[in-house]
Amino acid sequence: MCGIVGYIGENKKAVPFLLQGLEKLEYRGYDSSGIAVLNQNEIKIVKKQGRLKVIKDILGSKDDLHSNLGIGHTRWATHGDPSDVNAHPHLSKSGKIAVVHNGIIENYINLKKTLSKKGYEFKSDTDTEVVAQLLDSLYEGNMLGTIKKATDLLEGSFALGIICTDYPDTLFAVKKDSPLIIGVGEDENFIASDIPAVLSKTRKICRLKEKQIAVLTSKNIDIFDFSGGKAKMEISEINWNVDAAEKNNYDHFMIKEIMEQPKVLNDTISPRLKDYSIKLDNLNFTEEYLKNLNKISIVACGSAYHVGCVAKYFMEELIRKPVEVELASEFRYRSPIVDKNTLVIIISQSGETADSLAALREAKKLGARVLSVVNVVGSSIANESDDVLYTWAGPEIAVATTKAYSTQLSLMYLIALYISKVLGTITDEKYKNLIENIKLLPEKITGILKKASSTEEIAKKYYQTEKIFFIGRTLDYAVCMEGSLKLKEISYIHSEAYAAGELKHGTISLIDNKTLVIALATQDKLFDKTISNIREVKSRGATILLITTEDKADKISDIADDVIYIPKISNILSPSLAVIPMQLLSYYIAKFRGCDIDKPRNLAKSVTVE
Ligand code: G6P
Repeated sequence: MCGIVGYIGENKKAVPFLLQGLEKLEYRGYDSSGIAVLNQNEIKIVKKQGRLKVIKDILGSKDDLHSNLGIGHTRWATHGDPSDVNAHPHLSKSGKIAVVHNGIIENYINLKKTLSKKGYEFKSDTDTEVVAQLLDSLYEGNMLGTIKKATDLLEGSFALGIICTDYPDTLFAVKKDSPLIIGVGEDENFIASDIPAVLSKTRKICRLKEKQIAVLTSKNIDIFDFSGGKAKMEISEINWNVDAAEKNNYDHFMIKEIMEQPKVLNDTISPRLKDYSIKLDNLNFTEEYLKNLNKISIVACGSAYHVGCVAKYFMEELIRKPVEVELASEFRYRSPIVDKNTLVIIISQSGETADSLAALREAKKLGARVLSVVNVVGSSIANESDDVLYTWAGPEIAVATTKAYSTQLSLMYLIALYISKVLGTITDEKYKNLIENIKLLPEKITGILKKASSTEEIAKKYYQTEKIFFIGRTLDYAVCMEGSLKLKEISYIHSEAYAAGELKHGTISLIDNKTLVIALATQDKLFDKTISNIREVKSRGATILLITTEDKADKISDIADDVIYIPKISNILSPSLAVIPMQLLSYYIAKFRGCDIDKPRNLAKSVTVE
């Protein structure tokens, strides 16, 4: 949540970089934006409620903001409404210090009280303004020393970009529990919340570690820890292409990312499969360790949690150990029963989700071994886990995840098969069959994507519906949760995912002739049961869109108003295929409704506050 950028250079290029960098970070929040630059010994700020375009238009008409030093921010409001005054950067009372912030200062009320007694007044409702005034109150001419003192007093999570009028050649950055990277350039250096912001300028990146402060000039970067010791800077070279974070010829990032799924699935699966053997990077679970496991706990948020919901079904079937799935925001606060014989799997695209990171730390404290399934290399969750397996989805920009979900799921299949093989809970025949089928996933997904236009036609028919239920049983039900979330996120239609067999225990009272029921029926053993549930809602007036496998065509008769067929595959793997038409359906429905698909209201992609 919130994106921050900063620039120090020699050619007065701060403003163009800040705007360009913020554009790449808008996925992190977009209710207001702002920049602060040092210009003729004075900090000048332009900040406004609304999309980045608002300040771009203002800055286009201002020609007095040429500067070598500046910071910028795109906001997802936590404290105080989206408004001009609450937008960042925030300026200190003396006008000497400006701050941009991502995270939450948990003790800001106490700090505000103390600062108020010292005569500080606050213009905004934000926690961030407290940081600016705190720095001001502590400042005695040495900015690095002041920042160190402030970090002792600040509680919560904070990635900060700071400029000070006494330091016209220096940009300061701070990281605690929110991501921050440094881009290393030539005669210019950068800070940002995420790599795409600096990628057009440099491929040399340093990820700040926990509790570090960076001091950047155009030619030099020094890193310190909060206790004052100098830290080593580890630079890595980014080897993915800028194109991966560009829309290219697609209308939206979301559809581009949907279409990329065959490739990224292949990138995630194939390096780990050699004939019939699975090699999960450096992961080495011994038979003894696995035999002693009392359970596996999958912990995540949002769509990553939905991956866990699917995985629970197939993992328990293959591994024959209890598998729990839990929302990270619940897990972290409820004294979970976890010990050294529990394997905790954290799933996260960004690797920075605040609740997932806190859950990871809690699990480790309780003695569990933590394996993470993460997309962003070197992210906090990846760094702090005992073992990490990367999904190779590449940068995902659309707020609504698609390719990250699919790659996470594919990796969970490999993990389940790997463990069941070591434990001997799977027959050779079933194991081989599943591996062969996993290899077919990219090709089968390509087949579904080729028929996207027929899903678009169906979306055209239903985009004005205001009440939608997704129903299915077992694995299908778990996929429905993701289908429903996708639709809610980007089209703002209220929908609910329901276990098909549970509808009659109350919820069926909501079904009427204005309801669209999207039924998913891919599981052979449960097909007839789900069809019975479809009849129940149909006879109460609902319109039915059925998603099922091609082999069921002759069993459907007139039960559904529309049918989307997906290719036949092993039942266990059908979620990987079934989710694709659901993603497409959400996308096209949102498009017909004229929604802002890549930046849905109130959402942000990377949720770094709890
Ligand atoms: C946000 C995103 C979701 C994502 C969730 C968890 O809500 O909009 O798409 O599933 O965060 O994020 P993570 O980065 O941990 O997968």
